[in-house]
Amino acid sequence: MDNKIRITILGLGHVGLPTALGFAQIGWEVIGTDNDLDKLDLISEGVVPFYEPGISEMLKKYLGQGNFKVEKNQSQAIKDAQCIFVCVGTPQNSDGSADLSQLETVAKTIAENISGYKLIVEKSTTPVTTAANLRLSIQRHIDTRIKKQGKTSDDFEFDVAVNPEFLKEGTAISDFMCPDRIVVGVDNEKSRQLLKAIYLPLFESEDVFEEKFMVTDVNTAEIIKHASNAFLATKISFINMLADLCEAADANVADVAKGIGMDKRIGPSFLNAGIGFGGYCLPKDIRAFSWIASQYGVDFSLLREVDKINLDRIHKFVDKVKKILWVLKGKNIAVWGLSFKPNTDDIRESPAIAVVNKLLKLESNLKVYDPSISDILEKGGLPTGLESIETYSTPISAATNADALVILTEWNEFKEIDLIELKENMAVPIIFDGRNIYESKEMREIGFEYYGIGLR
Ligand code: UGA
Repeated sequence: MDNKIRITILGLGHVGLPTALGFAQIGWEVIGTDNDLDKLDLISEGVVPFYEPGISEMLKKYLGQGNFKVEKNQSQAIKDAQCIFVCVGTPQNSDGSADLSQLETVAKTIAENISGYKLIVEKSTTPVTTAANLRLSIQRHIDTRIKKQGKTSDDFEFDVAVNPEFLKEGTAISDFMCPDRIVVGVDNEKSRQLLKAIYLPLFESEDVFEEKFMVTDVNTAEIIKHASNAFLATKISFINMLADLCEAADANVADVAKGIGMDKRIGPSFLNAGIGFGGYCLPKDIRAFSWIASQYGVDFSLLREVDKINLDRIHKFVDKVKKILWVLKGKNIAVWGLSFKPNTDDIRESPAIAVVNKLLKLESNLKVYDPSISDILEKGGLPTGLESIETYSTPISAATNADALVILTEWNEFKEIDLIELKENMAVPIIFDGRNIYESKEMREIGFEYYGIGLR
């Protein structure tokens, strides 16, 4: 094996780009390619097309050092690689299933350009048996090539492996560099050895590596990925139901979360009650997972309930605002947070956007601030129907003269705000905190009328 492993990343989005730069940091020769040529132009100039802490500096560094290159010609990118990581999108179809058409295109492109041996690694989140179908599809295209070009099957050798990603937006680089685990689904020892060689340098010793490196068959690895996101989503919907119970029964969900989370078998994370989970992964993955289960005759109704509970959070939150403020028409409501979670400018499936939509329908005047608002406006703008909302460049300016403030994303900036200044600037100091970022007692002592989710 070469000293420097040559890796190609197909698809330079929220998963592909951090993965590419992580491999470049390890010291591998990485080529990145994508169907979106405008995106490739930006990346080759050192510009990251989305917000992700730490990634800009890495991009400039590894473009400069030559460990990372952008290649517009996908055929060339495939020819040059020993190992191809497939990081293309798997969006949702209208029936909840995953749209795998980008993977089929990848299979054809790989088959048309394969020479010698390649390990093709599926990193995109895909339903179980996708890797098996990817392998079949590549082989079918190769067989056509063999017939047309009079070659033999020895000229085209490949394996397909699965290596699910567990990167969170906002912490993608640290998640890559310090993973909880690396799961690989492989068919044979050759694939396992290459993946081991690729990841080993991330760890201080082979012993530590072996503790974190989990090898399975390809189907199992695909299920591990979907099951991880499904379990996280289930935890969130579970705590949100408890929040409703706490609110009705005059108990405190933050303490309930702490109390159950101290049990090591349950664990404290992903137990923050609020307006629910959003983003490009959790909502779509639970739907795709329950859909694929149904294809195998397994009724995963638990996940459909998790989804339903999550979607209901929005209505419940807005109903609470309506009940307490009485008339919303014409009221000035400050909104803090649009992104689906902190440290990202991603508003896809953001619960905050869903709340904003509902408040707009109720004819309130919205004054919106998000720490990433300039990035949101610059890269794609606000979703249809929201173009006319007033946006502000500081949280206090958005809250000035407001009749109420709603907090929709748990950014640290909001936790550190001068609460006295905030109170003095608002017309009426009422806060609806959809992310439970403050202590109720402290807020009431300052003089706010404060409503968290499931808090006393
Ligand atoms: C998620 C997973 O956490 C990653 O492990 C996975 O790799 C990724 O999807 C993926 O499949 O690519 P991400 O979508 O970046 O990562 O977002 P999360 O950090 O999981 O947060 C999802 C949503 O849950 C956010 O809207 C967040 O505000 C909400 N959340 C999170 C809660 O409402 N309560 C919590 O306790 C935690």
